[in-house]
Amino acid sequence: MSGRFLVLEGIDGCGKTTQLRQLADWLPGSGLMPSGATLHLTREPGGTPLGRALRELLLNPPAESAPDPTAELLLYAADRAQHVERMIRPALERGDWVLSDRFSGSTIAYQGDGRGLNLQTILDLERIATAGITPDVTLWLDLPLQESLRRRGARADDRIEAEGESFLMRVADGFKRLAAERGWIPVEADQGAEQVQQLIRRLLEDRFAQALP
Ligand code: TMP
Repeated sequence: MSGRFLVLEGIDGCGKTTQLRQLADWLPGSGLMPSGATLHLTREPGGTPLGRALRELLLNPPAESAPDPTAELLLYAADRAQHVERMIRPALERGDWVLSDRFSGSTIAYQGDGRGLNLQTILDLERIATAGITPDVTLWLDLPLQESLRRRGARADDRIEAEGESFLMRVADGFKRLAAERGWIPVEADQGAEQVQQLIRRLLEDRFAQALP
């Protein structure tokens, strides 16, 4: 597969979405992508039409439809399976680049560390849903939980964000462990958005420039 798959991970309010948009503006003209390759900006949950329906059910369901933890895990896995087969794999096969806001690491951190669901089950579902697709690089935006809560301020919480601080602390610890275990690139996110963006660009140049012809 000649394309490249890049992922950003981190806790809610770490600045991922802002960074991704700026990255998506820069990457096509950065010289890192081969000419002719297109960049696709996507996210989980919600990178496909089915995924967008699942996202609503996962994050803003009517009270009587809120999923139980195991159902929640399976819905994230369903979103991922559809995303991989309908969007990510075809793009990578065409030689395009895919930049995703979250991927399977989020399930380990949120449903594993956060909810306490069985890790082996989560890893089995990851293998099924990703079907051999793994990111070429995962950037982990490392921001202290208190700072992420401060940045989120009075913004209304979705169903996951509303789980409370001890849940989010377990998620944050999960991301830290995963970053070390899976060789993710840590990005010091406790600084201005512009500085974080420059840091990310340098890290990607270091990672991909040597691969240029
Ligand atoms: P976000 O895309 O705005 O970050 O929101 C997605 C929310 O869903 C966020 O709270 C993290 C959560 N989530 C999980 O709990 N498990 C997952 O596998 C994924 C992809 C996201």
